[in-house]
Amino acid sequence: MSEELKQIAKAMVAPGKGILAMDESHPTCGKRFKKLGIPETEAMRQAYRDMLVTTTGLSDYISGAILFDETIRQKLLDGTPFPEFLSANGIIPGIKVDAGAKVLAGHEDEKVTEGLDGLRDRLAEYYAMGARFSKWRAVITIGDNIPTMACLEANAHGLARYAKLSQEAGIVPIVEPEVLMDGSHSIEQSYQVTELAQRMTFQQLHTQGVLMEGMVLKPSMVISGADAANRADVETVAQQTVRCLMHTVPAAVPGIAFLSGGQSDTEASAHLSAMHNLGIDLPWNLTFSYGRALQQAAMSTWGGDTANVAAAQAVLLERARCNGKAALGEYSPD
Ligand code: 13P
Repeated sequence: MSEELKQIAKAMVAPGKGILAMDESHPTCGKRFKKLGIPETEAMRQAYRDMLVTTTGLSDYISGAILFDETIRQKLLDGTPFPEFLSANGIIPGIKVDAGAKVLAGHEDEKVTEGLDGLRDRLAEYYAMGARFSKWRAVITIGDNIPTMACLEANAHGLARYAKLSQEAGIVPIVEPEVLMDGSHSIEQSYQVTELAQRMTFQQLHTQGVLMEGMVLKPSMVISGADAANRADVETVAQQTVRCLMHTVPAAVPGIAFLSGGQSDTEASAHLSAMHNLGIDLPWNLTFSYGRALQQAAMSTWGGDTANVAAAQAVLLERARCNGKAALGEYSPD
């Protein structure tokens, strides 16, 4: 079992490849569709995700795709189940298993991720459907007097319990403690909170006996708040993010796949690439597990119209190629 977990984790973060996060919940996907005038229906979500995964050449840069519960049960337009199509095309199917971030009792400005109840059974079902990795996202907000230890501890504990249950089911957990970019905080504040969140997460992962070699960390970058006055430059984000990871992530973890968290697609590529060019020998593979930074432009190009499928796929492939390059430190905006 543990050999299998190690092999899957390694394949997920193979050099020059990253993960396509396409696991938006209905409300999140709906919001993005609505902005573009795309009807918020199951059929449209199916057509959109069909467009994404049938992109020729995608597996040159994409090792795995994170699906939402609806998608793992859906079929492509040609009748092939999504997980079966992905596996046959060299992309490992993954599944988001958390039930979303809800208000933490007694802390109205903070969230805790739910979904542990019944998770063992759900994981067994997903494994049978072909999922070989999973994702659980915890959300940490920076603000006045937050995050609190109550929030950090509850989320770290949830991540560790989820990770161990996943490994027990033969599924590699993606452990995602996301520190939100929302707000006007400085990069120094982002560093402090991110380091603490990651440190507490690994403490809990150890306590629960999670196999380090059989997991992937999905962190946010250490970055200035979206509304900060003097936002740190690419070089500083790369330096501070790698410094933070060096302080918190055991070398036994095979790879780290970043979320994009609202960065523009070119920013997300530039930051990842810069981390590989700091002259630091990194103990883990650093790559991407982007949602918006891979999909946003492709979704706008598609716009819900079959006539735009080929053009949207070209846009997606180009973003995947740029991030594949970035994962090798070879990205340039041109
Ligand atoms: P973004 O890259 O859009 O932040 O999404 C990644 C993800 O999976 C969030 O959970």
